[in-house]
Amino acid sequence: MKSARRYLTTPLYYVNAKPHLGHSYTTILVDVIKRHLVQRGNPVIALTGTDEHGEKIEQMAKAAGQDPKAFADEISGHFRETWKQMHLDFDIFYRTTDASHVKKVQQALTKLKDQGDIVYREYTGNYCLGCERFRTDAELTADGLCPDHQKKPEARSEANYFFLMSKYQKRLIDHIEKNPSFIEPAHYKNEVLAFLKQPLEDLSISRPKSRLKWGIELPFDSNHVTYVWFDALLNYLNATGWPDQFDQALWESVTHFTAKDILKPHGIYWPTMLMALNVPQYKTLQVHGYWLMGQSKMSKSLGNVVRPLEVEEKYGRETLRFFLLREMSFGLDSSFTLENYVTCINAYLANGIGNLVSRVLTIALKNFPGTLALDEKTLTAEDKKALEARASALSQWDQGFDELKYQNSLKAWSDLVTAVDLYVNEMKPWALAKAAGTGDATATERLKTVMGVCLRLIQAAAVIIYPVLPRASLDILKTLGVQFSGPAPDSKLALEDRREFKLGAEVPKLFMRVQLPSVDA
Ligand code: MSP
Repeated sequence: MKSARRYLTTPLYYVNAKPHLGHSYTTILVDVIKRHLVQRGNPVIALTGTDEHGEKIEQMAKAAGQDPKAFADEISGHFRETWKQMHLDFDIFYRTTDASHVKKVQQALTKLKDQGDIVYREYTGNYCLGCERFRTDAELTADGLCPDHQKKPEARSEANYFFLMSKYQKRLIDHIEKNPSFIEPAHYKNEVLAFLKQPLEDLSISRPKSRLKWGIELPFDSNHVTYVWFDALLNYLNATGWPDQFDQALWESVTHFTAKDILKPHGIYWPTMLMALNVPQYKTLQVHGYWLMGQSKMSKSLGNVVRPLEVEEKYGRETLRFFLLREMSFGLDSSFTLENYVTCINAYLANGIGNLVSRVLTIALKNFPGTLALDEKTLTAEDKKALEARASALSQWDQGFDELKYQNSLKAWSDLVTAVDLYVNEMKPWALAKAAGTGDATATERLKTVMGVCLRLIQAAAVIIYPVLPRASLDILKTLGVQFSGPAPDSKLALEDRREFKLGAEVPKLFMRVQLPSVDA
């Protein structure tokens, strides 16, 4: 039976700033989940990209003395390049300035206008430019500020086209209530339902060209451009070939990942737009918390950002992926501190898997260069018990992914590494090697068995951690001589009782111990 295809998306990032750690988290998470699903046999299409229209971009381009498209090209290029350099595996890099997107947005607008779901009216409200949306009074702080941008929204009044979102309020509530996993974790679903207790306002989906030129022109009124959220959300659907070559099965498998800042557009605007377009609902929206610096959200507008490529270069490849997944409890906020990052790298990567692989392979390569064959009959009860740790680690790993508890998965994995370390300490292979060196044949036999058990366990640790540390995992598997077909090691390889390891010539260098920069630096 062929496994089901899955479709995963990140938000399309605004091209008003280069990528920082907050953008990286969602993008890394989708890359990790994609790799995990591929390991379990599911073909996956992953989408990321850039959201390039709107007032914010128009203003920034103007301030930089650039044409908005040239400005968007440059920053979009930074996103694409950053993800490439971080080896993030995306099938689609979507840009909202592409001609095919513009055409499809206009098709959607025409359909909604023709069926009476779009009307022209006057509106007054509080507009937050950072969010590119009107904020209701209830959404502002006690001082009247936008909680995300710490700025007072502008009072605005203008005549615009409105999408009659309120028509779909009841259907949306029913859908959310009948499909508990539509918005996860549950507290975000509850937040959306609480919001929907108030009458839903209609959504202003156009801007007069007198105020904003940088947008997709309305097909039915050339004096207006499309509101950036209405334009951008459609990307997810358009990328599946909608409307003319719609891959509906792929669409219905979609999981959207976002932070809580854009819960409302994804939990309310988007599903009502889909209802109006008569397209099946997305499968699920998975919402995470913020990466904070101190008490504030990390964001370009607050100027407190960490750049992913800079930290990767300084602290070692893949260390950021591991840290972000290990540190954040999905759905809640986390603070980024260099202290925690350095501690995590040293504990789990340098001293953990790095040290384990190095101590085992050094002995194995010295004593059994070439091939190490493991005779099943020589396994003791202790060896068999040690090998059982693989199955429990793998099942806890999978369970963590299924329940959006990625921290639990990573913990199960580091517990496996610790268990192998303990096994090594108890079996003292260095002492067996010494005895073997004096011609003790029993010690040589026992050393071979102990090494074989360690290599099976290391194979399991490498296969399991593949989604989070893909390059380190492949380096380890290569040294063990473990080959596989396809893009990723199948997760079943973690439990393989391999009889023969054709060892490579060198111990792979995985992770270095790191230090906090000195206060002067
Ligand atoms: N362009 C819209 C999204 C349109 S999707 C059709 C947008 N862009 S954004 O550049 O502001 O990106 C917001 C997203 O970036 C968040 O939802 C999250 O995925 C990520 N993050 C940006 N800063 C973040 C943190 N400080 N913490 C966690 N995630 C953050 O909104």
